[in-house]
Amino acid sequence: MADLMWWQKAVFYQIYPRSFADGNGDGIGDIPGIVNSLDYLQDLGIDALWLSPHYPSPQFDVGYDVADYTGVDPEYGALEDFKRFLDGAHQRGIRVILDLVLNHTSDRHPWFVESRSGRDNPKRDWYVWHAGKNGTHPNNWYSTFGGPAWERDSRTAEYYYHYFFKEQPDLNWRNAEMKKAMWQAVRYWLDLGVDGYRLDAIGTIFEDPGLPDHSVPETLIELGLAAYHAGSEAERKALAEEYKALFKYQLDLPEVHDLMRELRALVDEYDEPLRMLVGETDEIAFYGNGHDELHMNFNFPLMRTERLSPAWIRANQKERLVALPPGAWPCNTLGNHDSPRVHSRYGDGKHDGALARLSLALMLTLWGTPFLYNGEEIGMTDILFDDVGIFRDNLGVWFYNAAVNELKVPPAEAVRLAAKFGRDKCRTPMQWANAPNAGFSPEGARTWLPVNPNYAQGVNVAEQRDDPGSMLNFYKRLLRFRRQTPALVAGDYQPLHEQAEDYFAFLRRSAADRQACLVVLNLSDKAHTLNFEVMPRTARCLFSTSKTEGARHDLSELKIAPFEIYIGELA
Ligand code: GLC
Ligand code: CA
Repeated sequence: MADLMWWQKAVFYQIYPRSFADGNGDGIGDIPGIVNSLDYLQDLGIDALWLSPHYPSPQFDVGYDVADYTGVDPEYGALEDFKRFLDGAHQRGIRVILDLVLNHTSDRHPWFVESRSGRDNPKRDWYVWHAGKNGTHPNNWYSTFGGPAWERDSRTAEYYYHYFFKEQPDLNWRNAEMKKAMWQAVRYWLDLGVDGYRLDAIGTIFEDPGLPDHSVPETLIELGLAAYHAGSEAERKALAEEYKALFKYQLDLPEVHDLMRELRALVDEYDEPLRMLVGETDEIAFYGNGHDELHMNFNFPLMRTERLSPAWIRANQKERLVALPPGAWPCNTLGNHDSPRVHSRYGDGKHDGALARLSLALMLTLWGTPFLYNGEEIGMTDILFDDVGIFRDNLGVWFYNAAVNELKVPPAEAVRLAAKFGRDKCRTPMQWANAPNAGFSPEGARTWLPVNPNYAQGVNVAEQRDDPGSMLNFYKRLLRFRRQTPALVAGDYQPLHEQAEDYFAFLRRSAADRQACLVVLNLSDKAHTLNFEVMPRTARCLFSTSKTEGARHDLSELKIAPFEIYIGELA
């Protein structure tokens, strides 16, 4: 463990600033609120934070539409607040990485305002402008957020390209001046002392300059709806392939690798302490040779299932780990601000709490750096709003309109679908107490998204803090345990009982730390007596949801309770 970098040992926790803590009581989370919560985070036992965008933004995509890369959104506070936050985190031994949105800016960013002002403007080429073809869009590309990828700007009668909303025009990364300006912004925060970046949507940075049409017959909304109704993994896989074909000329172009190498070299200039980059991408290729592109890329395929079955997890590990280049380090996650909450997604309606605990155990025992999402530690759940007027995620709004207008889905059904498809469901304010507004904002304040009423049923920090059996205390216990157990951080991974359908068993062994651990995650409601042919044949229980810690167990007949999490050290 001694040889590992800080980011290889760390457990990361994602803060979605708008929903984490409201310091000034206006219904919107902010940086002073985060400062007030630093003791909470330290006590929770996480090592590093990923802060979703805190930059000035019109908030059309809740901060992922940046209007100034070196500022702080006034709704979230001022630069002084940010510095207090960074210092406070560092004083507590907590690292901080920021969100870096390279693909696009807000359409209100001064760069774009200039760029659109005239064809001869010096910043014209900072974005992707093209003339129309036959009186319409330059080609048939889609925006992944719906509709054509091109928006006609009447001022100059040309089209600009946007992979996401039209309020998020794509930057032209083939323009050297723009790149220079962006690298300055990247340095700005590194100079202030931030520890690295989570890179937003890197696969979308370049698109084919020849603008060839795609040749997929289905529309985007048709594919979206089909994916929603897909009954089998095979169907889902086939649809994912079609989706890839639809965006063939817009995603993962080879030039992204050159850019990532350049960014890595920039970040590597900072060595006291070393900084790190993690990419929002499935593509293992963005590890480069293991040392020259990104430090980590999220293992998103693991979370793309409605059931974390042992077979699914094993297959995922097998596929991912062999594909890693030498020296590369895995990175696992089960949720973020774009996906359903763990408690809702992997629950079965009957054992949700037990399954949520198992999902944390999985994150903290698999090989790799875990990323957790704020609110999971108290078992926050998805909430599906039944009124589009409440939606704040414009993706949900788009889906609703497309379903009603293009697919003629009845409005009541469309709201239901849109609430599931949209991302508000996992973005509601953090539930701090069993108090009005869940203790997030004072009574009477109007929170930016309604709070989930289940704060009154025990899903809140204050009550769980005092309850030894709570999800929160389970998180604390397991996070502390991982820190003290080097094999879980530094050890290799060896799956056991690979045919088992109910439980996932594996070894983590670190020769340097002279520790080997057997992990058994029983993802079923059945008890088992298991025979592990490992040497030595006895284990000392280090952590279990059913057994006494410190007890010795014979591994030729290890009894595992329903939903048990068992971690034993080979004696
Ligand atoms: C990433 C973000 C998502 C955002 C999109 C566009 O996928 O996680 O929230 O909408 O990029 O920036
Ligand atoms: Ca506020």
